[in-house]
Amino acid sequence: MVSIFMGEQPPEPTTDGGTDSGEELEARLAAGESYDPPESFVEQANVNDPEIYEEFEENWPDCWERAADLLTWFEDYETVLEDDDAPFYRWFTGGEVNASYNCLDRHVETGGKNRAAIKWEGELGETRTYTYGDLLYEVEAFATALRDLGVAEDDVVTLYMPMIPELPIAMLACARIGAPHSVVFAGFSADALATRMNAADSEYLVTCDGYYRRGDALNHKEKADKGLRGVEQDVETVIVDRLGDELNHFLGEHAHDYDELVRAHEGASVEPVSRDAEDMLFLMYTSGTTGQPKGVKHTTGGYLSYAAWTTHAVLDVKPEDTYWCAADIGWITGHSYIVYGPLALGTTTMMYEGTPDYPEKDRLWELLEKNDVDIFYTAPTAIRAFMKWGKQYPEGRDLSSLRLLGTVGEPINPRAWQWYYDHIGGGECPIVDTWWQTETGGMMITTLPGVGEMKPGAAGPPLPGIDAQVVDAVGGPVDPGNAGYLTVRRPWPGMLRTLYNNDDRFINEYWREYSDEDADEWVYFPEDGAKLDEDGYITILGRVDDVINVSGHRLGTMEIESAIVGVDGVAEAAVVGGDHDVKGNAVYAYVILEDGQDPTESMRDRIVGGVEDAIGPIARPEAVVFTPELPKTRSGKIMRRLLEDIASGEELGETSTLRNPEVVEDIAESVGE
Ligand code: WT7
Repeated sequence: MVSIFMGEQPPEPTTDGGTDSGEELEARLAAGESYDPPESFVEQANVNDPEIYEEFEENWPDCWERAADLLTWFEDYETVLEDDDAPFYRWFTGGEVNASYNCLDRHVETGGKNRAAIKWEGELGETRTYTYGDLLYEVEAFATALRDLGVAEDDVVTLYMPMIPELPIAMLACARIGAPHSVVFAGFSADALATRMNAADSEYLVTCDGYYRRGDALNHKEKADKGLRGVEQDVETVIVDRLGDELNHFLGEHAHDYDELVRAHEGASVEPVSRDAEDMLFLMYTSGTTGQPKGVKHTTGGYLSYAAWTTHAVLDVKPEDTYWCAADIGWITGHSYIVYGPLALGTTTMMYEGTPDYPEKDRLWELLEKNDVDIFYTAPTAIRAFMKWGKQYPEGRDLSSLRLLGTVGEPINPRAWQWYYDHIGGGECPIVDTWWQTETGGMMITTLPGVGEMKPGAAGPPLPGIDAQVVDAVGGPVDPGNAGYLTVRRPWPGMLRTLYNNDDRFINEYWREYSDEDADEWVYFPEDGAKLDEDGYITILGRVDDVINVSGHRLGTMEIESAIVGVDGVAEAAVVGGDHDVKGNAVYAYVILEDGQDPTESMRDRIVGGVEDAIGPIARPEAVVFTPELPKTRSGKIMRRLLEDIASGEELGETSTLRNPEVVEDIAESVGE
């Protein structure tokens, strides 16, 4: 976790979920060994010509026609890239396209009607398979129903749902009628739902009665209802009945039952609306440095082309594959690589509702074996948990159907990489370590599995056509081996177009303009630290802003701090990430109470409860540390780096510039207790 390093070197990442030691492995890792993809993989890979990097370079930006060509356009685009209003770039302008048509109709029309589109595994062991024909049928019915409820083109529909098939169905139904969706992760709290609905001015909500977690039924509707009470505008709600009789719920006014709506519109056909390439496909709220989440806007033509292209080139997905991305659709990974990318390519995409360790710790491997999964994509936090549980779980299952593995969300330490390679991939599957963000729409830095060698711990070179560089605090180049800021110098089709209703924040948060005699250059800052090696491989070091990455989930420290300060009796709070061997980072909250308040257990519970109410259980602090003071510089700035060192149990850095150096020792002691 790197949080501030203006002008200084960020520390090396220290996460290490190692349990699988052994001298041989240590030696291999120390030698920085690299791996070539197996010949058999290369031969069949969608992309296996190393020339692709040069081809894209020489032919930029027209090279991106290769991505756009993966889609079926209603109207051909006239221009690949328009940059006259940079950094408000526009891609494939003049083109018209529909995402639902590309993910459904065209496969049905070309012989894919009976091919499985979604294979869903419920937590209780139920399964459902939707063929492309089935999926289109239900999407059309629900799209008609949404229209009947009043949803018009460009109305934002909020989807607050867990991993049930109705979520992608609702996404595609929205896409079909040109209504952007805004999916809110089901684990987010009622307040978080309300904030996002208000920010997007969304008058429609699709949610469900509940879902299962470790065998227990959770009441989701209660949370949705509570959230709705905080929404300013009137809202029409649709409720999916996931739990049947397990949880009776009242629909109430302005609420409709999903099954009834679909039944009433069965057999309906809806023309997929012709959308301009630059029309919004969806909004996705993500955390930033302020307390207010950012509404990242993605478009129909550029985003979908990019999702399809990266699924094809990096995940090597083919229509006949069974592909499984074990993320949640509530995050961008699920949007791009469970729903849009794989369905645009006409493959079979798996969805799993439950957790990896229920009922047993081999649940994922059981599902992988049962479904003969070809490609598996997950997060390092999950891999570290698998390592901890032990190799006996994957060893008890036949995983030989696998051809390719992927990871995303946070840096993967070489030891976890190696474990994944050996114990899940059987030493025969390439691994793609894919760096990207909600804002980038799709993968940006990774090896191409049919082309490049892999180096455990380094994501890889930028993808063809992507110009990523590591720079110092003034934008100059950084020598290989040294840390700096990651930047992206050229636009790409999957990029966010703006922050919803906030063009100024879009520019301020992400872009810097450099001018020289020839031209102005806009540079994108992802807010990650990185270093480059001699071969052009990039190792990501972690966030350089006040965002922490907990189990691959992005949380804004300001959002958590404002939740804590909202608790009665709290005067001030500082939240940082501390190392955690499974989660990568854990939330550490340093709290100053108001005079006369006692640091009791019940105060701690109220603080934790306050965070859960404002954001959700994912943001729950691992530790709440009461302190009379926070370490501050003479100008009054909280020294977060010191708080991070304390949380990670590291040697404390320089304290002499502090106004109150003595407080550091006190805090360190109370954390150590
Ligand atoms: C942040 C973006 C991309 C979907 C999931 C997260 C970190 C992401 C990697 C990787 C090292 C990574 C970065 C990035 N990150 N992938 N392969 N190696 N770090 O999306 O919530 O927008 O978070 O996740 O810090 O900025 P997100």
